[in-house]
Amino acid sequence: MRAAVLGTGSSLPERVLTNTELERMVETSDEWIRTRTGIRTRRIAGPDEQNYQLATRAAQHALTAAGIAAQDLGLIIVATISPHMLMPSCACFVQTELGANNAFAFDLNAACSGFLYALDVARKYIAADPKMKVLVIGSETLSARVDWEDRNTCILFGDGAGACVLGSAEERGILDSCLLSDGSLWNLLYMDSPASKNPDLLDPESKGCVIQMSGRDVFKYAVRAMEDVVRQLLERQQLSISDISLIIPHQANIRILDKLADRLGAQANQVFCNVDKYGNTSAASIPIALDEAVRQGRLQRGDKLLLCAFGGGFTWGSMLLKW
Ligand code: ACO
Repeated sequence: MRAAVLGTGSSLPERVLTNTELERMVETSDEWIRTRTGIRTRRIAGPDEQNYQLATRAAQHALTAAGIAAQDLGLIIVATISPHMLMPSCACFVQTELGANNAFAFDLNAACSGFLYALDVARKYIAADPKMKVLVIGSETLSARVDWEDRNTCILFGDGAGACVLGSAEERGILDSCLLSDGSLWNLLYMDSPASKNPDLLDPESKGCVIQMSGRDVFKYAVRAMEDVVRQLLERQQLSISDISLIIPHQANIRILDKLADRLGAQANQVFCNVDKYGNTSAASIPIALDEAVRQGRLQRGDKLLLCAFGGGFTWGSMLLKW
């Protein structure tokens, strides 16, 4: 028995923010953003689109697709770095909204790798209890966590949520995964929070609870780390890149995706990409892309699906599934 995806769903805010609008907010241009990142638009959450609300809507679609009732869930994990409250977890809000009163629920923070980490946790719970149904969500409202005066970061990120329901299956499911992290490089990509010693005050040197990033370093590490971790997985499974039907990498920016595909020797049609529409939605990017891939008929039963991610921490990982 393996942990398999039984249904997927996603939810995006209605508001579309274009590069042209960003030109009026910071010193940038549509041309610069498109050529450096591949991003054309991103979605921005409104007042009725808080993190847990987007997460709940994505979850409802995934439950419908799986044909599973909320009461049948045993566990809910929300991967996020932008919960609307520090406590309770976003997952507990989702549980209440869904009426999933037989589940326990918690959030998981592994930045842009969060959804992969959460899938791996789900896989292990299902291995221990094959009857368990697990809801795994990646959900972010990063628009609340960027400095809208910092052109280095504000052009990159967007809001949204994606979800999967997992249960056990005989013939398909998660085959293998490889997760890694390196906390020593934390200061290349981070978001401050109020100091725990004095929660009302931020460090006077801090720019606030917003994403701060050394873009060039992140770029370099992201490509190298994802390449390594994909190669490790392929080698362990005695597969080559041509055996993979679809690769869904974390949607950070098109140049990272192109470079990764190039170094792995993957064809353009093997790599799923929607970063042009939604920007970087951190933990939500893989499940949103997976749901779109499913709805576009890009995955057939038996296909080998490869997921890979890189994010703050640093955290990174890869996962192989038989669809
Ligand atoms: N518009 C116009 N000019 C800009 C902008 C902007 N929005 N942002 C930066 N610039 C300028 C810089 O100020 C710099 O100007 P200078 O030469 O006068 O100093 C110039 O453009 C070049 O800046 P670089 O940072 O060297 O530009 P680079 O080509 O590296 O592109 C980018 C920047 C897009 C951020 C790139 O480094 C990148 O993609 N990094 C990866 C970051 C990422 O994806 N982070 C997401 C989180 S981690 C993850 O999800 C994997």
